[in-house]
Amino acid sequence: MAKYLKIDPNNISKEVLDCAVKILEEGGLVAFPTETVYGLGADAFNPTAIRKIFIAKERPLDNPIIVHVGRIEEVYSISEYVSYEAEKLMKNFWPGPLTLIFPRSSLVNDLITGGGDKVAIRQPSHPVALALLNAFGRAICAPSANLSGRPSPTKAEHVLKDLGDRIDLIINGGEVIWGVESTVLDLTGEIPIILRPGACPKEDIERILGKKVEIWKGKGKDIPSPGLKHKHYAPKVPLYIIENFSEDWKNKIDEFIKEGKRVGVLASEEYRSFYPDNVKLIVIGTRKNLATIASNLFGAMRYLEEEVDIILSETYPLEGLGLAIMDRLRRASYENSNWL
Ligand code: TXA
Ligand code: MG
Repeated sequence: MAKYLKIDPNNISKEVLDCAVKILEEGGLVAFPTETVYGLGADAFNPTAIRKIFIAKERPLDNPIIVHVGRIEEVYSISEYVSYEAEKLMKNFWPGPLTLIFPRSSLVNDLITGGGDKVAIRQPSHPVALALLNAFGRAICAPSANLSGRPSPTKAEHVLKDLGDRIDLIINGGEVIWGVESTVLDLTGEIPIILRPGACPKEDIERILGKKVEIWKGKGKDIPSPGLKHKHYAPKVPLYIIENFSEDWKNKIDEFIKEGKRVGVLASEEYRSFYPDNVKLIVIGTRKNLATIASNLFGAMRYLEEEVDIILSETYPLEGLGLAIMDRLRRASYENSNWL
């Protein structure tokens, strides 16, 4: 079983950091809080340790891993070339939930890039993540600390449940801040492309770059980020998105209930009174502040999957954090299909 150590982000314990650093140096795996979701960290320069991440998570080997750095300077040794635009974005958004894609340097292991020629890097802002990176003194590669395909962990308890018997240490630093992962931005082509919408809004990136940024929507062979083709964020029970409240959605709920199925709803404060009494309602936040919805989304999915047979969700506007929220919901939803 993993060691499970509490840490106060406002008063970081040196003993806990020392223990984590020792495990990383010995090639072990440490789960730690970041401002987005919990990460599963290994020494980014130890291939044996990196391989353990794929085994613990049951992650496909072609899915590359983000390298986390404590200092911006480290980017210059991990990547071959740092553009002016990348520098501008790092200056404005780091530390924070923006991951940038760079041409890799020869120091980067193939396991981290999925065999490709690019590397994803970010500097997290969570005090525990930053303290760990600086105590360790070099880069830590870390995917989200969940079993592959499952909703990302926003609490240490989620990590314990998915990976408790597969890793060496879980640092419990309480709930994360954002609750959705970082925005992954590829600046290596002519047009900047968001490969994964996340906690850093597209609009903010466009404002700093002074130009439009595209969102990758394609399918098929030319997938720029292998992670995009794998099913993601899915709870154990089917999740359906209610696309349209004007349709026959209440009857559909009744049908499920007649079949003996328990129905759970991820609801916004504004729509809570729409739903019939025979569903299990979880109010995840308010539409007036989408950060509240984002921060509760994965936790509520993990809670409801234990309580009901079907989960329903509302839709959210495709702007600001809404883009990341809808991306996670679409990927989590049952065979990516609509229910109405
Ligand atoms: O917020 C986050 O980004 C969290 C925390 C722990 O930092 N990490 C995270 O990692 O979400 P992961 O592995 O669960 O998701 C990383 C995504 C995947 O979709 C992966 O395919 C993509 O980033 N990615 C990583 N390296 C890449 C690369 N070199 N080129 C293209 N996409 C890459
Ligand atoms: Mg993940």
